[in-house]
Amino acid sequence: MRTQVGIVGAGPAGLMLSHLLHRHGISSVVLESRSREYVEHRLRAGVLEQGSVDLLRETGLGARLDREGMRHEGIELRFDGESHRVPMTELTGRAITVYGQQEVVKDMIAARLAAGGKIHFEAEVHRLSGLESAPVVHLRRDGRDEELHCDFVVGCDGFHGVSRAAVPDGVLRTYERTYPFAWLGILAAAAPAVHELIYAHHERGFALYSMRSPEISRLYLQVPADEDIADWPDERIWAELRTRLETVPGWTLNEGPILEKAITPLRSFVVEPMQWQRLYLAGDAVHIVPPTGAKGMNLALADVALLGAAFAAWYADGGTGLLDDYSRTALRRVWRAQQFSWWMTSMLHRLDADDPYEAKLQSATLRYVTTSPAYATSLAENYVGLPEV
Ligand code: FAD
Ligand code: DHB
Repeated sequence: MRTQVGIVGAGPAGLMLSHLLHRHGISSVVLESRSREYVEHRLRAGVLEQGSVDLLRETGLGARLDREGMRHEGIELRFDGESHRVPMTELTGRAITVYGQQEVVKDMIAARLAAGGKIHFEAEVHRLSGLESAPVVHLRRDGRDEELHCDFVVGCDGFHGVSRAAVPDGVLRTYERTYPFAWLGILAAAAPAVHELIYAHHERGFALYSMRSPEISRLYLQVPADEDIADWPDERIWAELRTRLETVPGWTLNEGPILEKAITPLRSFVVEPMQWQRLYLAGDAVHIVPPTGAKGMNLALADVALLGAAFAAWYADGGTGLLDDYSRTALRRVWRAQQFSWWMTSMLHRLDADDPYEAKLQSATLRYVTTSPAYATSLAENYVGLPEV
């Protein structure tokens, strides 16, 4: 096989890049180890920044998003038995849209296939070679080894992918932080009891109330990092959610059958630079944020928006400026999101239970962010997404 840009991974980053390249008349092949069914139903992110919504709309992917996405103009912070709204749109003029990542992925796959795009599912990439001059992607499909020859390779294969490992030792520098807790997330057939997201800080740990539709709720609980989902029967999950969220007089959450549940570890991780020779890295393959700031999918889309423009310039007239600047430009947004996600995580989770000083600092921060318009604006502008970083 031969194409101009070989893309590893059909998550939001890889699919969006393929879509953007197509709009510039550049050919690509997307190789994805999982099945189409699997990637279209993998339950993950739910919050799109204004900039991500604008990008999807401007590139013709906004029709269902506009019909089914839920525009939110604020979030609620709940702590010490009180509820405080951060009026994001009032403070910034921008909003977020709640629309499941798997819906974004479905829309992108449908658009690519309708345009004759090449996405090979159940095609596992195991090695990259020739990255200095003539890249080759080595994959296994239908029990056979195959090669994809291309001008460039873009690794959009997530944290556990193979692309990052193709860079020789000593080139990349890793920055990371792990957290002693994870998120237990559920999807429930219950009408959301709220019309905006609730981020709750509680002495037993963090809880988040989100949604996917007027009939489906999405909720998360902070749990210890090594927790086993088998120890969380449905009734225990609802009891813990009630304890952490029903802290405001007269407010109750809606319960219903739990459709899915899973535990996700929290991690902060960045690899620099995001490029080596003819390999470019994007999305979770090069950076991970803890989910508290709702930034992961948005960063993945922002990375490939830069790459789409950079490849367009290169194929138009051989201009290398944008490709050369890719890593430096993308990392500015990446580190802004790293700091914001770390800050939200530190403010809202139960940290060291044996450190009462830490708990007092958290309360002071929460009180400040819910009383000072200046501090609230800082939260809001990061949450809805900064246009320029
Ligand atoms: P991925 O979506 O991970 O896609 C990578 C793809 O590469 C996968 O399909 C994988 O199967 C494929 N692949 C891997 N290895 C290979 C290989 N060897 N060969 C071929 N294919 C391969 N982000 C937000 O913005 N907002 C949120 O509200 C939010 N909430 C989240 C909640 C949870 C519980 C989780 C887990 C994540 C959340 N995120 C959120 C993060 C977001 O889901 C990710 O940042 C996003 O999926 C990154 O997209 P990506 O395309 O870079 O990687
Ligand atoms: C969702 C996930 C997040 O990480 C977040 O901060 C807000 C909402 C969600 O899945 O709906």
